[in-house]
Amino acid sequence: MYLRAFKEQLLSGPVGARPQDGEYASRFERWDALASVRRRPRREFEGEEPGRFFFPPELYPVVLHPMIASRGEAVVRGLLLQRLYDYLDFTTELESLAVIPVATKISRGRSGLSLPDRMRADAHKIVTDEAWHAQFSDDFARQITAATGTPRLGAEGCAGPSFVTRLDELRERLPHALRGVEALLFAIVSETLISGILSDIPRDDRLPSAVRELVRDHAEDEGRHHVYFRSVLRHLWPALTPSERRAIGPLVPGAIHAFLEPDYERAAYHLGRVGLSRDEIDQVISESWPAHRVRHDISGAASQLTRHFAEVGALDDVRTLDSFEEAGLVGDVRESEKAGFVPREVTA
Ligand SMILES: [Fe+2]
Ligand SMILES: [Fe+2]
Repeated sequence: MYLRAFKEQLLSGPVGARPQDGEYASRFERWDALASVRRRPRREFEGEEPGRFFFPPELYPVVLHPMIASRGEAVVRGLLLQRLYDYLDFTTELESLAVIPVATKISRGRSGLSLPDRMRADAHKIVTDEAWHAQFSDDFARQITAATGTPRLGAEGCAGPSFVTRLDELRERLPHALRGVEALLFAIVSETLISGILSDIPRDDRLPSAVRELVRDHAEDEGRHHVYFRSVLRHLWPALTPSERRAIGPLVPGAIHAFLEPDYERAAYHLGRVGLSRDEIDQVISESWPAHRVRHDISGAASQLTRHFAEVGALDDVRTLDSFEEAGLVGDVRESEKAGFVPREVTA
């Protein structure tokens, strides 16, 4: 078992047979001076502050729905606290399950790609960053529980964040020989998408300062990771054979949705806990997250990532382009034509 785990690559096949592109500009040279694990203190939750939200209501629109808002401020505040807990739990799971294992494989030279040595060395720093993010998210949730006496209901009552089951579904759609590469793909996707939470919360002064500082610490590290995983994508795509590209490309929108789509099951669980019936839960969720709006929001959040995939030639494959179109992701690529970039298939 250990020997198999040792040998297992994310992308199978002989590494030497894959083309090598040696270009890599490290963003980790000043890591010791910049990384939050080195530079930032433990963030301490200083207790509930009257009038402060635990989470921006606009990022959890079920609390703005009349069937919830009418239940009063205590219910809304309680749901926002559970949403913050869920975000912290999501972060810990994402780092532990999806990012650390991939960065570890890269660091040990078992990604299946021929990557520059410097890139392997930097992957160790990402493992450390992500372990710190997982640790401080869990620690912060524990501090809030101790201070408020409110348990973390989602993490205790649900199977896990929805990205876990969505990733399993994605893996099932890959040919057996390519299973494992979804991990690399999902790490690229989740690490290069800067979520609304990471960008909005540090600036939101309705939230306790410790919450904002914690998310800011994370966002600053993720800025470096974004550049790194964009580079991983630039190495991955040219190294794939045409048939591998055709198998993997159409799954990219699924990976994007796995990361960005709201966790409806978690929300349903919390709405049930505040007394809504199954029908009421369905109504609140479908009216709070109308499908067209979710699609539009994901398209906007993923526009830069879609451009990255277009730049490496991923959208040159017709089925891949179709899947991006079906997911509503390529409108923004077309907009990028204005900036001078024209994906071949789009203009053909
Ligand atoms: Fe992270
Ligand atoms: Fe990261």
